[in-house]
Amino acid sequence: MFSRFKKPEQANQKPATTAVGSGAPQTRAPAAASPAASLPKIAVVAPKSPAEVTALDKERKKKEKMSELKVELHKRLLENLNLAALESATEGNLKVEIAAIVSEALEEMSVVLNKEDRTILNQDLFDEVMGLGPLEPLLKDETVNDILVNGPKRIFIERGGKLTLTDITFKDERHLLRIIDKIVSAVGRRVDESNPYCDARLADGSRFNCMVPPVAVDGSLVSIRKFKKDKLGIPDLVRFGAFTEEMALYLQAAVSCRLNIIVSGGTGSGKTTTLNALSSFIDNSERVLTIEDTAELQLQQVHVGRMESRPPNVEGKGAVTQRDCLRNALRMRPDRIIVGETRGEEVIDMLQAMNTGHDGSMTTIHANNARDGISRLENMVAMAGIEMPLKAVRSQIAAAVNLIVQASRLQDGSRRMVSITEITGMEGDVISMQEVFRYERLGIEPNGKIIGRFNATGVRSHYSDRFRQWGFELPASIYEPIA
Ligand SMILES: Nc1ncnc2c1ncn2[C@@H]1O[C@H](COP(=O)(O)OP(=O)(O)OP(=O)(O)O)[C@@H](O)[C@H]1O
Ligand SMILES: [Mg+2]
Repeated sequence: MFSRFKKPEQANQKPATTAVGSGAPQTRAPAAASPAASLPKIAVVAPKSPAEVTALDKERKKKEKMSELKVELHKRLLENLNLAALESATEGNLKVEIAAIVSEALEEMSVVLNKEDRTILNQDLFDEVMGLGPLEPLLKDETVNDILVNGPKRIFIERGGKLTLTDITFKDERHLLRIIDKIVSAVGRRVDESNPYCDARLADGSRFNCMVPPVAVDGSLVSIRKFKKDKLGIPDLVRFGAFTEEMALYLQAAVSCRLNIIVSGGTGSGKTTTLNALSSFIDNSERVLTIEDTAELQLQQVHVGRMESRPPNVEGKGAVTQRDCLRNALRMRPDRIIVGETRGEEVIDMLQAMNTGHDGSMTTIHANNARDGISRLENMVAMAGIEMPLKAVRSQIAAAVNLIVQASRLQDGSRRMVSITEITGMEGDVISMQEVFRYERLGIEPNGKIIGRFNATGVRSHYSDRFRQWGFELPASIYEPIA
């Protein structure tokens, strides 16, 4: 319960002057009126000293040697390990066995390694045999959110909203393809030239997508959205500054009073996380059905039915779309329906469900703001082949959707709920809406961190009466803007 009311801390922060580029070294006197003064500065990288070059060269050669050694040892391991016994072997047993085989092979090959290199080698080989090779340490790293592979030599990770290139690589494209094959064959799929892409779920629940050459031009492309066992809840999101306690109170009332909610946002902006957190406000007595392409949601209620769509098999048969699941769900006496992401023809069934007794339903869409979100819904209806005048489509949307919550990943990597907008009805041919809360950007620190605050817009909720009828007496102060 959010019973405390305090002004958001951000409110006290002073607006900072824009400081983009102020950290860059100034090599020339700035020409005040010159247009060049506003151009971004180009950082000059100092040339490396000969000693540094030699050290880097040595490091590269060592990496190559270790990589070759690993391939040879991997081959020997597969020849010597009792693969049938792998299923039942414990991790400890297997590690001991791998270490023994490696030791013997190294001796045979007359290779001497120090203890540290040997430990790394043993772990890498264990990952190759049992797991997903070079991806394994990244999958284990709790701080990594996304793993993005652009061909065998470039693996990027996303941490704290920021993308960085790692120094982890696959040996070559064949190695990468072998790992991809391991993943997709585990879910009964295949990727090759005629079937070049695939969605899958890893054993730990992570969402996986790959695309292989020749469609992927510079080597296979892999994207993994790591599965978080402990999903961020409302208190975590408030603590991380994704929204304020006042906004959480408002959202609690909105979910409890069964408003239909759309979480809108860009890629990786935190839509699924927000949807999951909002679902925590659903009463335990309600029957909730969730429909997703890859099951990511983790609802805490007792009465939850989870569905996952299925792509067609190799012969192009057996597909079960989100729309199929949704239509079936309507016959399963749901109190609420949650669709992980609405992106196609299922939109029409979703809107109908929201309009016909399954209020309190929720979904996410890819859009940049509330208005854009509405246009996306309109386009989806049109693309689903529904011949309906635009005004009728808009009336359907206006009647179905009560609230649009906009999630956004700002350029400093922080994820924030930048706007909460209510749909209030139709004015002529246009859907009318009002923003209740928004994130105001005030400036940027020299280190790139964005300074801002959440603020109310001053409008009172269109649903205030409904909140009151349901027993949610929100204090008027939460709608008061900070000057
Ligand atoms: N407010 C937040 N603070 C910190 N991390 C967050 C926050 N919101 C989400 N994340 C993390 O960001 C990652 C992406 O979040 P999420 O999966 O919810 O995004 P999404 O918008 O659904 O992405 P996609 O478009 O790929 O479906 C997750 O690892 C999640 O744990
Ligand atoms: Mg998502």
